[in-house]
Amino acid sequence: MSYYVTTPIYYVNAEPHLGHAYTTIAADVLARHMRQRGEDVFFLTGTDEHGEPVAQAAERQGVEPRDLADRNAQRFRDLTTTLDATNDFFIRTSDSQHEAAVQRVLQQVYDNGFVYPGTYEGWYCPRCADFKTDAELVDGNKCPIHLIELEREKEDNYFFKLSAFQDKLEQLYAERPDFVGPQVRYNEALSFIKGGLNDVSLTRARLRWGVTVPWDESQVFYVWFDALLNYYTALTYAREGQDLTGEFWPADVHLIGKDILKFHTVYWPALLMAAGMEVPKRVYVHGYLLMGEHKMSKSLGNVIDPFQVIDLYGVDTLRYYLLREVNFGHDGSVSPEGFEKRYDSELANEYGNLVSRTANMIRRYCGGTVPEAPADDSLASEFANVAERVCEQIDAVDLTGALETIWKHVRRLNQYLQDEQPWKLAKDDSQGERVESILYGVAEGLRVVSVLLHPFMPEKTTAVLEAFGQSSADIAAARFGAVGGGAEVGELQPLFPRIESATAA
Ligand code: MSP
Repeated sequence: MSYYVTTPIYYVNAEPHLGHAYTTIAADVLARHMRQRGEDVFFLTGTDEHGEPVAQAAERQGVEPRDLADRNAQRFRDLTTTLDATNDFFIRTSDSQHEAAVQRVLQQVYDNGFVYPGTYEGWYCPRCADFKTDAELVDGNKCPIHLIELEREKEDNYFFKLSAFQDKLEQLYAERPDFVGPQVRYNEALSFIKGGLNDVSLTRARLRWGVTVPWDESQVFYVWFDALLNYYTALTYAREGQDLTGEFWPADVHLIGKDILKFHTVYWPALLMAAGMEVPKRVYVHGYLLMGEHKMSKSLGNVIDPFQVIDLYGVDTLRYYLLREVNFGHDGSVSPEGFEKRYDSELANEYGNLVSRTANMIRRYCGGTVPEAPADDSLASEFANVAERVCEQIDAVDLTGALETIWKHVRRLNQYLQDEQPWKLAKDDSQGERVESILYGVAEGLRVVSVLLHPFMPEKTTAVLEAFGQSSADIAAARFGAVGGGAEVGELQPLFPRIESATAA
């Protein structure tokens, strides 16, 4: 089966920050997990390069939009590499193939009768690239997100008949309760739709930095329509000479932050319907990473640089921390202190110690080979359904829940060692078999949790699995008892060494 997961494409008006890293990490966990299950995965990320956000940032810096885009697109590309993201393609909306495909699809929407010329009059925030109603403004004329003063605009452009999709969208939501997750976001999207849909501008007359409208070359497409279509266009040219849409369209899940809910849960399915295309299976909306009480954002200047954190602690730690600390789907605060705490107490003390204790005891008491001995039934039964449970949680995009399930088992193994105290039993020659049974059980449990943790912490778990003589991280390997004893335990560097500096930010 195929599985297609996407992140939003990020604006190149500024450099990447932790908020962008967050969505990419989450999507990568889904992609890696689905590959473990043998799915044929396509994971897409990239950059959104057109529109006012980029054009105006370039103007402020005195450079051409394309130069700014080239520079920052490279930074986002570097981020995906630094995050160990296994994306199958990196799309840039300035790619000529993307532009041509956008023109094709939107021409179809026009030919299908869902576009008409009109005059837009109202407020527009160039940083959001979004139109604002009077009710949304603060202090009379300010964008509620960027707090910059907006001007009223009047321009002739083409409109998309969003209103024509009111009933169809309501029907889609009624038939597909999991079209948007989590539930609060489904409710929010549905109530937006039920509030009544107005037509929206499809094109911009004053802007040059965008995809040219084929039926009126004096205009470019409004950046959001150009951007949303990336999820489709990428499949048409990611592999030269191949059209991957047959295999991967529609997407299984678009991961997004809640800031761009309206575009993905209302405009996007309507646009696809207007083009006669299938809508995605699911849009999953996560919350904000907060610093203190505020959304981390470049415009507020309260951002943590992911490159710095990774330099100091390594990428797996960051991947783990973000998905563990902030309940995926909800808002949550992150901080250098919180980061250090989980690093010490969970990664170093719980998982890291479990690994080194187990390896040391196998070396000391079992000649360095994982013993061939039956594990305790009680331990085996506690591990019996862990892989199924994790799969169910990942299917529900409950990444934090899946980590919690895995972590309970890490803790269980530590508790088991604490209860059984094999280091004491080892002093008594008559207890040799018992020691072997305990250590086989712990090694086997550790192997299972490491396979399940692999999508979250690919580097560290690979090191652990290799040290315990295992190479497979397929989901089938996450069954307790799937592997018997006999493997040699190799050398292993400390997984989570003490970090001196207390400055993750
Ligand atoms: N270019 C548009 C998206 C087009 S998708 C067809 C855009 N870009 S963005 O650069 O502003 O990125 C927004 C996305 O970055 C959010 O939806 C979210 O995925 C991620 N985040 C940015 N800041 C974030 C937080 N503080 N917290 C969580 N996610 C954050 O919007």
